[in-house]
Amino acid sequence: MHCVVTGAAGFIGSHLSEALLAGGHTVIGIDVFTDYYPRAQKERNLAGLRGRPGFTFVEGDLREVDLPRLLEGAEWVFHQAAQAGVRASWGDYFSTYTAHNVLATQMLLEAVRKMPVRKLVYASSSSIYGDAERAPTPEETIPQPVSPYGVTKLAAEHLCFAYARNFNVPAVALRYFTVYGERQRPDMAFHRFLRMALSGEPVPVYGDGLQSREFTYVSDVVKANLLAAEHGRPGTPYNIGGGSQVTVAEVLDLMGELLGRPVARQMLPAQPGDVRRTQADITRARTELGYEPTVGLREGLRRELEWLRGT
Ligand SMILES: NC(=O)c1ccc[n+]([C@@H]2O[C@H](COP(=O)([O-])OP(=O)(O)OC[C@H]3O[C@@H](n4cnc5c(N)ncnc54)[C@H](O)[C@@H]3O)[C@@H](O)[C@H]2O)c1
Repeated sequence: MHCVVTGAAGFIGSHLSEALLAGGHTVIGIDVFTDYYPRAQKERNLAGLRGRPGFTFVEGDLREVDLPRLLEGAEWVFHQAAQAGVRASWGDYFSTYTAHNVLATQMLLEAVRKMPVRKLVYASSSSIYGDAERAPTPEETIPQPVSPYGVTKLAAEHLCFAYARNFNVPAVALRYFTVYGERQRPDMAFHRFLRMALSGEPVPVYGDGLQSREFTYVSDVVKANLLAAEHGRPGTPYNIGGGSQVTVAEVLDLMGELLGRPVARQMLPAQPGDVRRTQADITRARTELGYEPTVGLREGLRRELEWLRGT
């Protein structure tokens, strides 16, 4: 297939682009190198892609590039580009979230609706649920995001489905539950915790440390994208979890085991916008897409630690 991957220089987009090339597909990767984290890390993400046959990189903002030209002949579109991060989404920085998450998605959808694309896979997020009453959380749960980031991810998901309904854009949404692994964004918990633990710095734990998350290893998320492109039902959201649900305290214990020494902690007050618990009900992805997570937390963390040691 001929594919377009937005956010191709990012954590997930770069892994996905590599997997597509490995599967014999061709890829146009688009990324504007937002300054949320250093360009140098994104350039390293691209190292295995640049110059490879079948891969074309286009530097530019989705709101400014010539989308009709870039989408010419595209069969699968994977929309990974976004302004990520929950904590930065309060205050003045919110306009960055509306620009990159809502407006950029709307412009992509406008362009896609005029093209014979077979599937558009949108990277949604578990943060659209907020503090869901039910855990594991099924897709029918009414989304009630508790952060401005979650609000913009949900708005973009609604846009995808509005274009699916009105213009038959074959859009599906994958609601990722905290993704980790090699190249993880430097603002994300595992990346920061592992770096601090390696340098012997105490790790800040917000609240009581008993908040829990479902963690999904990046290769499982990549696999989910490929399955969604093949089998996803347009207009449908799918939860993508990794099957590992652990508390922050348990994660730090596991990191200590992998490092061979306990990880020091600094207890701090809970942060606004942080949810207490996330847990995916992946029944729909399992039955409709054939999705099954395969990399457990210990193995995934070991791989991320190995990568960080080599950077
Ligand atoms: N990492 C996670 O745990 C997680 C969880 C849920 C959902 N998601 C979603 O998955 C996607 C990928 O996340 P990630 O962790 O790889 O983030 P990332 O920041 O590493 O990658 C996103 C990339 O998109 C690019 N980008 C942003 N706006 C753009 C625009 N307007 N035009 C072109 N490029 C643009 C950025 O430069 C960046 O390289 C995002 O949509 C995010 O909301 C991630």
